[in-house]
Amino acid sequence: AQEKIELKDKIRRLLKEQQAVLVAHYYVDAELQELAEETGGCVSDSLEMARFGRDHAAQTLVVAGVRFMGETAKILSPQKRILMPDLDATCSLDLGCPADEFAAFCDAHPDRTVVVYANTSAAVKARADWMVTSSIGLDIVAHLHAQGKKILWAPDKHLGDYIQKQTGADMLLWQGSCLVHDEFKGVELELLREEYPDAKILVHPESPAAVVALADVVGSTSQLINAVKTLPATTFIVATDNGILYKMQQAAPHKKLIIAPTAGNSATCKSCAHCPWMAMNGLRNLAAVLESGSNEVIVDTEIGTAAHLCIDRMLQFAA
Ligand code: 13P
Ligand code: SF4
Repeated sequence: AQEKIELKDKIRRLLKEQQAVLVAHYYVDAELQELAEETGGCVSDSLEMARFGRDHAAQTLVVAGVRFMGETAKILSPQKRILMPDLDATCSLDLGCPADEFAAFCDAHPDRTVVVYANTSAAVKARADWMVTSSIGLDIVAHLHAQGKKILWAPDKHLGDYIQKQTGADMLLWQGSCLVHDEFKGVELELLREEYPDAKILVHPESPAAVVALADVVGSTSQLINAVKTLPATTFIVATDNGILYKMQQAAPHKKLIIAPTAGNSATCKSCAHCPWMAMNGLRNLAAVLESGSNEVIVDTEIGTAAHLCIDRMLQFAA
């Protein structure tokens, strides 16, 4: 406990000295989210993280999240110094979509508008027409569909399938998945719903179709937090990373929140439904990178310039 207090003090001091700002995702440890909030940084979903990093005056951003979030910050602000507690914090969607294989997929379907999820490498984004996050993917694909465009979508097959069903767009899907959300199970969720018949079910669209089908609300992390705040129910079953509980509980202190069942575990399993790469962010490595200036995110200039176009297109659309 003493070590934690000292590390937090050190982080607060170093952020101030270096005029740096902490940008954290909802899935990282609660203590990092707390620090980001109290030091004037942000805690949010991937769309807001990108916007906040771009618009903040600080010249050093410390991104507590996974690699693509650090890369997006760098691509949007190449002149800023972007640090991450651990540069190996990746994402199964990014790992499952190598840039060379993706380029071949695009080459084979030149008639399609290429839409990629934020959870990809800068090199994959460099090949895309649009980048989307889970909070805006549906609107952007609906917009493209209305223009008669056919879509090539990568990499999350569940999110792609959900958007396809909602919009009716012609979408060719890459077959990637998130290793956390892919574990949520429809049958077990139905059983849990029988135990809590008044509960509302909140689902991140990276979850399988059988889970999405049971949802009262499907949305990005911030949209799910908003649902807990605004819906009149007192119990919620939540199919997303359990890191989100910190903010959800803060938003609605008296409501009961239950993480949806994953394969082979009980609904109360603490170590399930948590991204192993988000978990690589901690107080120790955060303090260490601020102290040493190591773990700077570097994006190749040519790739960054190409990737900027598709990210900026999304931000313009969202504005
Ligand atoms: P959000 O954009 O909803 O925060 O999702 C990011 C992510 O990695 C979900 O697994
Ligand atoms: Fe990637 Fe899933 Fe982790 Fe999000 S929770 S960063 S999609 S592996």
